[in-house]
Amino acid sequence: MNASDTSTVFERAARGLPVPHTPVWIMRQAGRYLPEYRKLRRTVDFVTATRTPEIAARITLQPMQRFEMDASILFSDIMTPLDPMGVSVDFKPGPVLPEPVRTPERARAVRELVPEADVPFVLEAIRAVRSELRPEAALIGFAGAPFTLFCYLVEGGGSKDFMTARSFLRREPEASQALLRTLGRSMARYLVAQAGAGADAVMLFDSWVGMLGPESYRRFVHPVLKEAFATVRAGTDCPVIYFPNRGGALLSSMRDLDMDVFAVDWTLPLHRADARLGGGRALQGNLDPAELFGPPEALLAAADAVLADAEGLAGHIFSLGHGIDRRTDPGQVARLVDHVHERTRAGPG
Ligand code: CP3
Repeated sequence: MNASDTSTVFERAARGLPVPHTPVWIMRQAGRYLPEYRKLRRTVDFVTATRTPEIAARITLQPMQRFEMDASILFSDIMTPLDPMGVSVDFKPGPVLPEPVRTPERARAVRELVPEADVPFVLEAIRAVRSELRPEAALIGFAGAPFTLFCYLVEGGGSKDFMTARSFLRREPEASQALLRTLGRSMARYLVAQAGAGADAVMLFDSWVGMLGPESYRRFVHPVLKEAFATVRAGTDCPVIYFPNRGGALLSSMRDLDMDVFAVDWTLPLHRADARLGGGRALQGNLDPAELFGPPEALLAAADAVLADAEGLAGHIFSLGHGIDRRTDPGQVARLVDHVHERTRAGPG
């Protein structure tokens, strides 16, 4: 390694460069499985916590004080920037919209985000975290992907199959496309602004894209994602991560998206995701969050299986295949993080 290179292990892995160990972080690592988070949340509601930079920074740093994570992720939510775009959102604890977007007129009335003016508190929280975080750890900024935000906006909250949202796509294809474009442009600008404020990497969460068939993905979502990633690439040098949850069947259609790391859920082995993507890119993942409920030996064996699966990849960032469950024992997280570091210290894989 070049001694003058100041980039973190996390960023090096994202770029496919040599690393001293496989970097680790846990999807949804700042949250309700941590007693210190639950304690703080008794004194402040979720929305206030996300909108108050000192509190958001403190929560972001909670898992960093407890574990040897290689990256922190900003405490915020994919729904946080929607209010200034004209869509109000409550959290109960998942997002609920008092007035879902159900007409073409409303879809077209959602306005583009101007991050510096609309969500200054997010950018300030990033500056606060970056000034306190140890320099070897990366800070990940994030946003919701256009289709995932579209799902919540139209459905009005979480759902088993988002049928209201998916039928709106067919009933009002033009208004849907306009809304997806607004969301795509807004989230691209949002990620660029977060990188400008000090995020070392940015990640786009597409929790629901896996519900689309290949044709509707190509028609409605791909062009919007392609433009969004091009905008992010033009606006920042930092590594860009995309998480198409349950998107295994779509990966071959995603090859030409201009970003650095695919985050993979646990339903697809990493080497198979790599083959579908055509190789050459770093992957993130993909331990099943349920493994954290097994006995320690089984957890560590499952982690070893992920590391073995990652052999031969251009780069690997170890993480869960989706968010950590709130009933998880934090002691298991500590075991997992330390194990991955020890196992890979001689060199990854
Ligand atoms: O460490 C972190 O990752 C914290 C930052 C973060 C949150 N949400 C905080 C949060 C991130 C990266 C997210 C992303 C997010 N939010 C996604 C994409 C990732 C995924 O899980 O698919 C989605 C779909 C959402 C929407 C959302 N917000 C849901 C479904 C929920 C309920 C979650 C739950 O645990 O019940 C939220 C609320 C939320 N966002 C909480 C946290 C810590 C719990 C709120 C509380 O404290 O009551």
